Amino acid sequence: MSHKKEQTTFSIEVIPAPCVVVIFGATGDLTKRKIMPSLCQLCANNLIHEHTSVICCGRSDYTTESYRSYISQYVPKCSHCNKKSCFLDNIIYVRTDAKEPKTFQDLADQLNIKDSKETASPLNHLFYLAVPPASVTELIAALSQAKLLEETNPDAWRHLAIEKPFGTDLESAVKLDTFLHEHIAEEDIYRIDHYLAKETVQNILITRFANRIFETIWDHHAIDHIRISTAETVGLEGRNSYFDKSGLLRDMIQNHLMEILMLVAMEPPASSNADAIHVAKLNLIEKIRPFTEESMATGIVRAQYTSGNDMAGYLEEPDIPADSMTETFVSLKLFIDNERWQDVPFYIQAGKRMDSQDSEIEIVFKRSTLSFFSEQLSKTLTPNTLTLRIRPDEGMQLDLQAKHSGPKLAIGNLQFDTTYEQQSSNQGAPDAYARLLLDAMLHDHTLFVRGATIIESWKLFTPVLEAWKNNPDKYPLLSYPAGSEGPEFSLEG
Ligand SMILES: NC(=O)c1ccc[n+]([C@@H]2O[C@H](COP(=O)([O-])OP(=O)(O)OC[C@H]3O[C@@H](n4cnc5c(N)ncnc54)[C@H](OP(=O)(O)O)[C@@H]3O)[C@@H](O)[C@H]2O)c1
Repeated sequence: MSHKKEQTTFSIEVIPAPCVVVIFGATGDLTKRKIMPSLCQLCANNLIHEHTSVICCGRSDYTTESYRSYISQYVPKCSHCNKKSCFLDNIIYVRTDAKEPKTFQDLADQLNIKDSKETASPLNHLFYLAVPPASVTELIAALSQAKLLEETNPDAWRHLAIEKPFGTDLESAVKLDTFLHEHIAEEDIYRIDHYLAKETVQNILITRFANRIFETIWDHHAIDHIRISTAETVGLEGRNSYFDKSGLLRDMIQNHLMEILMLVAMEPPASSNADAIHVAKLNLIEKIRPFTEESMATGIVRAQYTSGNDMAGYLEEPDIPADSMTETFVSLKLFIDNERWQDVPFYIQAGKRMDSQDSEIEIVFKRSTLSFFSEQLSKTLTPNTLTLRIRPDEGMQLDLQAKHSGPKLAIGNLQFDTTYEQQSSNQGAPDAYARLLLDAMLHDHTLFVRGATIIESWKLFTPVLEAWKNNPDKYPLLSYPAGSEGPEFSLEG
C-alpha cells in the first residue's frame, strides 16, 4: 500500500477588468527590467484582458514608433505570448512633463480616445509612477490638475501605484501621506514593496495559519528568538548618490524587513482580507518597544565596508563624499511588548558587499529540556529551526533532531528542505512585479503597504537616525572588509 499523499494545490487567478496602464518613468530602469517584462508575463499567461492597453510617459523626446523600437530591446515583442495581436504591440508613448500642464492634457486626450474606442464603457486607469522619489509629488499634482485622478464614473476606477521610499523620516512620511490624501483616496493608492510579493513572504501567512502545528507553538513558550536577515554581495549598483543620502536602515530595514517582521509576528487576522491583515500588522508594529539611548547603544550596530577582496571601499566609490558616515550594514535587536512575544528577541540584519547573497527568516525554537536526556546529551541538542528562505531558491527548511545510526542515543540534525519551485505545479505563477500589477488592477491591497504602518515604522527609526547624526561618538560606525561576513560584534545577552 502506498502512503504517498496526493498533492493538492489551488490556483485561482482572476482576470482584471480592462484598463489602461499608464507608466511614468517609461524610459527608466524599473520599466525596462521589471514592469514591461511583468506585463508581458501576465499577457502570456492570459491574465490581462484583451482590451487592456499601455500608455508610456516620460519627458524624453520619443515618438510612439521610436519608443516601441527602444522598449523592444528589453521585451522582444512578447514573442512567447503567441497571440496575433499583443497589447505590447499597441503601446502609445506620450511625452509628459509636470512643468508643462499641456502635456497632461495630451495624456487626457489619449485616455479619452481609448475610453471611447476600446470598449462600450469607460476604462479603468492604473497610473504607475516608476520615477525617482523627488518627482512623485509634482507628477501627482499634475495628474490631479488634469483631473485624471477623479473617479467621475462609478464603474471606472483610478488607481495610483507608487514605489518606495515613502518619506525619509517621520516628518517627511507624514507630509507625503497628507499630500497623497489631498489628491486620491487611501483605498486607491498602491504603495509597492516588491518584497511583499515574493513567494516566501506570501508564504509566511500560509505557513502560520494553514498549518496547525506551527501556529500553536508560535509564541514565547516555544520560540527562543527570530532572525530576519538579508545579505547582498553587490554594492551600490549605480545608485551611489541616492544611497549615500539614504543608508541601509532607510533602504532595507525601515520598509522591507519591518514588513516581513509584521507578517511573522502579528496576531492571526480576523480573515484573509487585506483590511484585516492591515489591522493586525498595525497592532503589531505599535507594540514594538521604542529604542532608548541605552538600547540604541547596546542593541544596534551600524557599519560601512572598507576595501577588501579586490573590491573598493565605500568611501572610494564614485560620488561618495570622503567623510560619509552612511551605513552599509545594520544589525539590531528589538522586542515586542505583547503577551505572545514577551522577552523574545527579534534580530534584524542587512548588509551590502557581504560574502553571500541570501535573505531568510529563521524561527529558532527553544531547546528540549526534558530530563529524558542526560545533562551532557542535552547540551549537544541543537534547537529546531524553521527557515523561510527568500533567496536563493525560495523555499523552506525545517531542522529537527533525530537518531543517527550508531550508538543507542546518537542524535544529530535531520533537515527537511524544499524549494517552492520543486513543489509547485503552477510553473506560470506570476513573479513579484507581475503579481503586484495584477493585484493593483484587482483592487487587492494584501501585498501593498499602507500609510499607517509606514508612519509607525518611521516613529521607531527616526530617533535612531537622529541619534546617529547628532551623536556619532556614542553610536560609532564600525567597518568591515568588502566581501566579508560583516563586522565583529554581539547583540546577544
Ligand atoms: N530600478 C529598480 O530595479 C527598482 C527597484 C525597486 C524600486 N525602484 C524604484 O522605482 C523608481 C524608479 O526607479 P528607476 O531605477 O527606474 O529610476 P531611473 O531609471 O533613474 O528613472 C526612471 C525615469 O524617471 C524619469 N524621471 C527622472 N527624473 C524625473 C523628474 N524629475 N520628473 C519626471 N520624470 C523623471 C526619467 O524619464 P524621463 O527623463 O524620460 O522623464 C527616467 O527614465 C524609484 O523610486 C526607485 O526607487 C526601482
